[in-house]
Amino acid sequence: MIHEACTILKETQTLFVLTGAGVSAESGIPTFRGSSGLWKNYSATELATPQAFKKNPALVWEWYHWRQSLIVNAEPNPAHYALVKLEEIMPHFLLLTQNVDSLHQRAGSRNILELHGNIFRTRCLRCDRVAPYKIPEKKSDKILPTCSCDGLLRPDVVWFGESIPHAIWQRAQDFLSHTDTALICGTSGVVWPAAAIPEIARQNNARTIEINLEPTPVSSIVDISIQGKAGDLLQQLISGLNQ
Ligand code: OAD
Repeated sequence: MIHEACTILKETQTLFVLTGAGVSAESGIPTFRGSSGLWKNYSATELATPQAFKKNPALVWEWYHWRQSLIVNAEPNPAHYALVKLEEIMPHFLLLTQNVDSLHQRAGSRNILELHGNIFRTRCLRCDRVAPYKIPEKKSDKILPTCSCDGLLRPDVVWFGESIPHAIWQRAQDFLSHTDTALICGTSGVVWPAAAIPEIARQNNARTIEINLEPTPVSSIVDISIQGKAGDLLQQLISGLNQ
């Protein structure tokens, strides 16, 4: 399987990569689904909603502060670094990530689009200002962060039921319209619209490769589905490309 994937990548001039939480799992960042998606008996998918924030913003912030502190103390892993290498090797490359943790950027990825926002930015519910977020040092400021206009801040991420950034989706579509190969890595393939990407790539005659620990709804759509850890498999792909 790795060998076939390498053959495809050797013929690829234009590579589109979609990543999900599985790529950051080896950095110790819990994924959203599965047992590691649980926090204090809440599932991640229950907390990442506008309704949850409206009902209990302090609880949702507590969860985001917890995730932020995990991420700040985490390091990019071999999967992130292998994707940086792939970007260097490919003449044309675009990485679309559903991750909000900036680990791709910290590893050195450059041509990257964030589909679900970024956990280190906030948006004011009153004045709509988007600003970088630093974790407050005083515990009391952590409960409900506010803007200089006194409005309540929320994490600048896309929650369930909210629209994804149109311009980013459009840029991804434009790239997909002329991509040779799409690599789908570490995503459960159940959250739309990212879940549509393998099918969109196929409709554009791109070859498709999936890397995931386990089979997903994407596995039956792609040309090659490889099971294992993203860090190991992506590093093997790079070694194969260098041979
Ligand atoms: P999920 O938590 O749904 O899925 C993570 C996927 O990564 C699963 O399919 C795992 O099998 C796989 N996985 C775990 N560890 C891996 C490893 N070491 N190597 C390879 N694969 C591994 O995460 P996403 O698909 O990213 O959105 O979820 C999509 C969106 O749903 C997230 O961006 C988030 C979430 O709710 C919002 O918060 C809006």
